[in-house]
Amino acid sequence: MRLDKFLCDCNLGTRSQIKKDIRAGLVTVGGSVVRKPEQQVSEGTDEITYRGERRVYEKFVYYMLHKPAGIVSATEDKRERTVLDLFSDDCRDDLFPVGRLDKDTEGLLLITNDGALAHELLSPAKHVEKEYECHLAASIDETQIRQLEQGVDIGEKDLTKPAAVHILEDKKITLTLTEGKFHQVKRMLHAVGNEVVYLKRIRMGSLTLDPGLPRGSYRRLTAEECAGLMNNRNLEKEKNGDTND
Ligand code: URA
Repeated sequence: MRLDKFLCDCNLGTRSQIKKDIRAGLVTVGGSVVRKPEQQVSEGTDEITYRGERRVYEKFVYYMLHKPAGIVSATEDKRERTVLDLFSDDCRDDLFPVGRLDKDTEGLLLITNDGALAHELLSPAKHVEKEYECHLAASIDETQIRQLEQGVDIGEKDLTKPAAVHILEDKKITLTLTEGKFHQVKRMLHAVGNEVVYLKRIRMGSLTLDPGLPRGSYRRLTAEECAGLMNNRNLEKEKNGDTND
């Protein structure tokens, strides 16, 4: 890959800033100063320093996005703005959202280039919890809660898996699911005779939406957040008796 892309992917600055720094002699490859941003390097084997420090290529990157309403959860779309349009041009070009939120749904979306992790988080067999804050058209009653907790008929082959309901205030609940069927939350509430008027995902597995992250903004996951996701993955592997990587 190009040297400027390598350094950009290491999250060291914008492409134009990095090009300037390379031309200014702040970068070495294999011990020699290289002043050409387009120089080809091997991210696995070349020893690259920037401002005197060795830089190691991160194969995978993980971002938390606070998805706003009005944007589609896709990598590209002919008509609509996508969640990736919210990212700066200096980010990796192989990012994608882990799963989908409806266009009018807000909240937590994990954006990464780690296909294996995405697969595990989305696999129905892994039962990763997804927690949503739902604002409802009407107050929820005991019967509706019991139905949601036990499983409801949303027109699929099976009833939905048991969900956890927590009442926040009148007409506001959190609903925690371990599956992710198309429009599932809205269809479940509709099936029990209520309607969702606002929906926000606030958690996926161990990853909780940062309350300080404004709508439409993103940030890298912290080391602890990454470790939490990897930990989920390892626990699942142990449960399944799978010790291979
Ligand atoms: N359930 C829905 O109905 N919509 C979403 O965006 C996510 C879960």
